[in-house]
Amino acid sequence: MRIRRKPWARPELAACPFNIDNPAEHCGHWAEVFPKQQPLHLELGCGKGVFTAEQAKRHPEYNLVAIDIKSDILGVAKRNIEELFGEQPVDNLRIFAYDIERILEVMNENDQFDRIFINFCNPWPKKKHKKKRLTYTRQLEHYKTFLKPDGEIWFKTDDDELFEESLDYFKECGFNFTYLTRDLHNSDFTDNVITEHERMFSEQGIPIKFLIAKLDPTVPLRVYVDAEELLSKENEMMGETLAKVFAKKDGERPLDLALAGKMVLQQEKDPIDQLIEERSGLHFCNQENSLEQFPFYPVPLMYILMYDDNGNYFGRHTDDGPIVCVNLSSRCCKVADDIRAFLELILFHPNWKHLLNQAQRTGRSIDEVEAEVEVNFEPWQEILSSVLQLPYDAEALPKLRANLLQSSGFVIYPNLDRAMKDNRFLKTE
Ligand SMILES: C[S@@+](CC[C@H](N)C(=O)[O-])C[C@H]1O[C@@H](n2cnc3c(N)ncnc32)[C@H](O)[C@@H]1O
Repeated sequence: MRIRRKPWARPELAACPFNIDNPAEHCGHWAEVFPKQQPLHLELGCGKGVFTAEQAKRHPEYNLVAIDIKSDILGVAKRNIEELFGEQPVDNLRIFAYDIERILEVMNENDQFDRIFINFCNPWPKKKHKKKRLTYTRQLEHYKTFLKPDGEIWFKTDDDELFEESLDYFKECGFNFTYLTRDLHNSDFTDNVITEHERMFSEQGIPIKFLIAKLDPTVPLRVYVDAEELLSKENEMMGETLAKVFAKKDGERPLDLALAGKMVLQQEKDPIDQLIEERSGLHFCNQENSLEQFPFYPVPLMYILMYDDNGNYFGRHTDDGPIVCVNLSSRCCKVADDIRAFLELILFHPNWKHLLNQAQRTGRSIDEVEAEVEVNFEPWQEILSSVLQLPYDAEALPKLRANLLQSSGFVIYPNLDRAMKDNRFLKTE
């Protein structure tokens, strides 16, 4: 959204009692910024606050935190809120300016939000920009950190492509839909609060797409456990994602887990590396592009080799050790016995990712993935095969399947602080 500069916005926000100047200070304690303890809601990309103000006024029984990246827009939101509330104190609403892509700097697993609203976020239609979408898988994984297990994400948009692709993002991250309509204003949904963009688009006759997503209770939750205890259970990990080590108690969600310690391998990219990247859809890591993005700390230390756009990281902990994948839900699995087998897999077996995704999503039901079609070597495959001396291995997918059922050997923590606190093995970085 383009907006003219508003020199008054920052000073007004600084003096505003419901604006939060230093959000990082409230990380883990958002419930405490409100005078009354009641369900906590979050709005991402609140814009001029038309929805924010109305939602908070209409629902005094909820506390609402609203974020936008631009102070100039947030200044307009602040005025709209004040106008709607009039003399009434704004007790159940707090706003602040921040980049949602960095939301884990200001919210963590101690913040238990009951609902997240994402209204008319930027559609980012170009392929290379899609990962900036507020509904992209990487973002959804971040939100899962502070969304209650039975919490909801309410998402609406005018944009068909964004909506349809977001359905896949949500499913990939373990969400189900408890409500879904492609024409909200002609649906049976009654608790809708109209946003400024919603008004504009519906006046143009564009139907509003809307969904409510909830975490599927059969998908493991992230939980933080003691590395020492876990490592002592090493032998029991065979054939499981680490999540399954802690079997669920009756009626409870299965637990996921966490690791500690990370290291990125420096890679000089030559033309062959570039060909590998281009053809595999994975990126080689280097200090510039990857350290910040990798949010976990594995034990033993993980040397990260490559990553993909869905937040899967591939690495190992010894020079000749197996290649392991860690995803944004802290799930680990073994992918290949060594780097050569890994390259062979990612270059010549296009179905390998489906198998991996299936394993990450469901834990075990990876046999359902269809068999691979026969590969006819294309020129680029001939080149890579001869330069890297990689013969085609027809058994690569069955091997991957067998690997996914083995222990990864890693324990994962969500951040360095936690790793240092909980794990006596980590004395590095
Ligand atoms: C298209 S507007 C929608 C505004 C409002 N939610 C509505 O429905 O009318 C998208 C808003 O998201 C904000 N935004 C986009 N990317 C953001 C980010 N990474 N962090 C925080 N806000 C962001 C923009 O500044 C803008 O105000």
